[in-house]
This record gives sequence, structure tokens and C-alpha cells, in this order.
Amino acid sequence: MKDELIKHARQVLSDNDRGTYTVPTHGLYPFQWNWDSALSALGFAHFDEPRAWTEIDTLMAHQWDDGMVPHIIFHEEDDGYFPGPDVWGTGRPVPTSGITQPPVAGFAVRRIHDRATDKALATQKAKALLPKIHAWHQWFYRCRDPQGTGLIALLHPWESGRDNSVDWDDAFERVPTDGVGDFVRRDTSHANPAHRPTDEQYKRYIWLVQTFRSLRWDNTRLHDASPFRIVDPGFNAILIRSCQDVADLAGRLGMSDIASEARAMADKGIAAMDSLWSDALGQYQCYDRAAGRPVDSASIGGILAAFAPIPKERAAALATRIEKLAKACNYLVPSHDPTAPEFDGLRYWRGPVWLIVNYMIADGLERAGQVAMAERILADSVRLIEKSGFAEYHHPITAEPCGGAHFTWTAAMVIEIFSTCEVPA
Ligand code: DGY
Repeated sequence: MKDELIKHARQVLSDNDRGTYTVPTHGLYPFQWNWDSALSALGFAHFDEPRAWTEIDTLMAHQWDDGMVPHIIFHEEDDGYFPGPDVWGTGRPVPTSGITQPPVAGFAVRRIHDRATDKALATQKAKALLPKIHAWHQWFYRCRDPQGTGLIALLHPWESGRDNSVDWDDAFERVPTDGVGDFVRRDTSHANPAHRPTDEQYKRYIWLVQTFRSLRWDNTRLHDASPFRIVDPGFNAILIRSCQDVADLAGRLGMSDIASEARAMADKGIAAMDSLWSDALGQYQCYDRAAGRPVDSASIGGILAAFAPIPKERAAALATRIEKLAKACNYLVPSHDPTAPEFDGLRYWRGPVWLIVNYMIADGLERAGQVAMAERILADSVRLIEKSGFAEYHHPITAEPCGGAHFTWTAAMVIEIFSTCEVPA
């Protein structure tokens, strides 16, 4: 079974490979997505290291002058996706979106370098990539944390990767829809509409895009101008972890300035993360910076925080929290608490399980000594794929496959999990 799954996963990666980048899945997502790419590179690295490096090279080649790395790169024309380049209007030579996504590239570069069999290639690639990734991390703290709190805010739910999480519901009430003209969604013709965000949410997504566009995508202005400013523990954890990984690798490669600056950013971030801990929920929670209050929502963002080097007792508490969630579902880790009224096991980030998030949570828990829970999460991930295939996400109780099929990062995680962890198969 293990060999068959790995073979199948490699087939998914090669079917979605466009030469220098990989599409998340044919049809629904026909371009290059930022965090999809970096995590997919982990899968490629197990059988084609040069191809893994190319994936990240291509992503970073489209970094903006201010350091931002966009969430979509529109390499080719394809009117099967909305909103396309004409809606974003970022004016880039190769069109891109104007917002970013979870910065997993720093983590991926370090991991691929650590495991590389071709060390010369890995070192050459890492030396070229680290300054760019570091500049991206600096951009976050400069433009998304102008008060220097140590935590960055997201300005659009699409930046989180968790587009329609319950976490954004209250803040979204403040995002108007006036001035948003008619548009035709394309996602709902590729995937079941019951698995996707609602039309009402899409209007607000587009209002934010239009507003940022009217500010000419000037990142010195967007933070304060946006009515949506949310501090997400999961996102900040990824940023902190990537800063830490950049610091470690840069130190080993003799890039001492980057190493010390990246270490300082990670240290400040990890100290600030503790302000997001909720005793009531037993996990971290988001903070609504525009409203000045915590977000009372038991989503996976507060569990993904385990990916950062959080204190050991916090990691132990998160393992206990996941144990509780396990009583309400069959497959860990649901993206929202199944006992909460807003839970919807089919709808994108309001309940389904995502393998990439499972992988990051398990990685963090293992580093913190929570090995049993880490192994349990990975074993559940494998059971899910065995039962329901390489879907974008799965229902945490029924295992129903949801969203897009034949999904690149799901396949990459299967290769990664089988190649690096002891899981029953
Ligand atoms: C989408 O189109 O669904 C993406 O998540 C936005 O990047």
C-alpha cells in the first residue's frame, strides 16, 4: 500500500508539473500559488532535487521590489479562474496578485538543504534564496506590524490560506460590499459549491482587492487603511519558524548578518505569541487588531501555532486540546472544532482536514516532545488518503473527499510523510 500511494503521489506531482512551477490542481487553480509551491517542493525533493529547487526559484523570482512575495503568479492566461490579473491590476511584468500567503519557503529551503544528497547544488541554491526570503520576512515585520508588536496582521483572508475560516466572520461584518460590481465565480464550476466559500464572502474578498488596488498596492498604506486586520497565530507561527530556519541555515552557510537579524525577529515573535494564548479555549486564538479584541473562535489557526518553537508546556496543552477534538471526529485535525455551532465538515476551512496543516502541526509537536500525538496525526492523515484519495481536503468524520481532486500538496505531503516518518500503512 505504501509503495502504491507513493507511486500515485508522484504521478499527481508530475501531472500538475508545468516545467518550472506546479499548479495546485488542474482547472480549479491553474497558476502558481505561493505556499502550495513551497510545500510541494518538499515532495519533489525526495525524487528530483533540482526540480524541487526550481519550484522555489520560480516563486522567488516574482518577489516584489518591497520584498513581498505574491500569493498567485499568473504565468499563463486562463479565464477559468476568478479573480484573474485584470481584477488585481498589480502592473507586474508577469501578472501577480497583490497580497501574500503563509511564508513556508524559509522552512522548506532549510529542510530540503538538510536532507539534500547534492549538497553543492543545495548550498548554491540556498545561498541565492536566503537573502530573498529574509527580505520577505523583513517586509512582513515592516509593513504588517508597523507598531513593532512582534506579530504581523493579515489584511485579506486569502493571505491566511484559510480563506473562509470562522475566525474572520466577525471582522468580515466590517468589510462592506458597496461598489463591488457583478462578477462570475469560476471556482464553483470546478468544485462543489457546498465545499467552497459563500457568494457573500466572495463579495467581501473582492471589495478588499478593489480597495487595495485603489491604493496602488502601496504596502506602506495598506495596513492602516484596511478594515480587516487580523493577527493569526498559525500564520505568525509559520513566519517565526521560517525566520528561525533561515537563521539556522544562514548561520551554517556563513551569512552572519542574515542569521542574527532573522534570529532577532524569531525571538521577538515567539515572545509576542504568548499574548494570543487562551486558557478558555486551551489553545491560541486570533486577535482582531482593527477592533482591538481577541477572536473567540476555536479554529486550527490556534493549533498550527505548534509549528513555532512555543514553550513546551504550551505544546503539551495543544496536544491535550487535540485529544479533545479527537473525541468529536474520526480523522485529526479538523480545521474547526466539530462541537462548535459554526462547524461545517465539507466547507473548506470551516471543518475539513488539510494534510499540509496536519504535517506542520505534527512536525512542531514532535520537536516539542509530543511524539505520540504527532504520530497519531500522521497516521490519521495516511488513513484518510488510503480511504479517499488525494483530495484538496477531507471531511473529518466521514472522510468524504472535498474541493479539488488530484491535489499537488496533498500528494507532496504523502511522499514526505512516508519518506520521513514511521507511520503504519
Ligand atoms: C482561491 O481562489 O480559492 C484561493 O484560495 C485564493 O487564493
